[in-house]
Amino acid sequence: MLSALFIDIRINLFLNMQEDQPIKATAQDALSSKNYATQLGYVHDPFISLFARDTVKRPPLINRGYWARVHRVRMTVEEFLRIDDDNKQIISIGAGFDTAYWLLRTEKPEARFQYVEIDFEDVCNQKSQIIGSNPQLFSMISSPITPNQEILARDYKLLHADLRNSRFLMEKLVLHTNISAPTLILAECVLAYMEAQHSDSLIEDFSNLYPNSAFLNYDMIQPHDPFGRTMIQNLHARHVELKGIVSYPTVASHLDRFRRFYERVDGYNMLMIYNRHTDRHERERVEKLEWMDEFEEWNMLMEHYCMIIGCKGSVNLAF
Ligand SMILES: C[S@@+](CC[C@H](N)C(=O)[O-])C[C@H]1O[C@@H](n2cnc3c(N)ncnc32)[C@H](O)[C@@H]1O
Repeated sequence: MLSALFIDIRINLFLNMQEDQPIKATAQDALSSKNYATQLGYVHDPFISLFARDTVKRPPLINRGYWARVHRVRMTVEEFLRIDDDNKQIISIGAGFDTAYWLLRTEKPEARFQYVEIDFEDVCNQKSQIIGSNPQLFSMISSPITPNQEILARDYKLLHADLRNSRFLMEKLVLHTNISAPTLILAECVLAYMEAQHSDSLIEDFSNLYPNSAFLNYDMIQPHDPFGRTMIQNLHARHVELKGIVSYPTVASHLDRFRRFYERVDGYNMLMIYNRHTDRHERERVEKLEWMDEFEEWNMLMEHYCMIIGCKGSVNLAF
């Protein structure tokens, strides 16, 4: 009886792992696209090529879209780092192969913070293998790295977790972070892959655990119009399902959700973010990088992504 139950649990676990494989692969996709945009000069990032296996050539509007996302997240991170508290921490959930820790250590050597990254165990294992085998990346982590284990350095942590099991994640975070310190949680293209019940619990648990925090979410929206349906079909063809997008299909629905858990909330679609909440000089610079005249597609693309920020306690960030 007990052994039948045990076999059942193992089969479910195996099926879940199989089902999650395409979602884990999105980490490589994001990396390849960012690598290409970096090579073209959209973003300055000398670390991305150390992680990337390849480069995927993308059309100008996708590169410009990547720039908007990366640039706006960086602006918020830089604003957060100006908070005068040496214990401040950034927690990136579904971090994939993001390079922000190394960039910040290089570009802001005076800043005091700890950086925590969370992803599925196998994505983290691939990342820690790359870090461990690259002297430049490794030299900026003040800790030995053991293959297939979490990295627990003083100011950089790479933690394994399935974000759908929020309670387990919170128990880990209690051990490895400072609950009362100013905290910025980053979720870049992550929450829409989960059922809404899981992402709701995750946001609620983060809000309850960190009284002085901000949660920045970048996500896909508008699944019901022709462009949105094509976006969903393209992902479906790669076995990636956006399980959460139907419950949160608009900027307004994202804002409402964050208002349930945070005191101050701000958010827009990415067209608004690009036009009004990015640096004008940087925007003029990137607009000269590649010729682009598909403005109808550009507007549609940018209206299908949004950025939302919720804040509570002493952390106060907005766009
Ligand atoms: C599209 S990638 C984005 C990676 C990174 N945030 C970036 O912008 O480059 C999505 C990431 O979320 C992670 N992810 C999605 N669902 C997850 C879950 N339930 N638990 C842990 N990680 C998850 C994937 O493994 C992947 O690394």
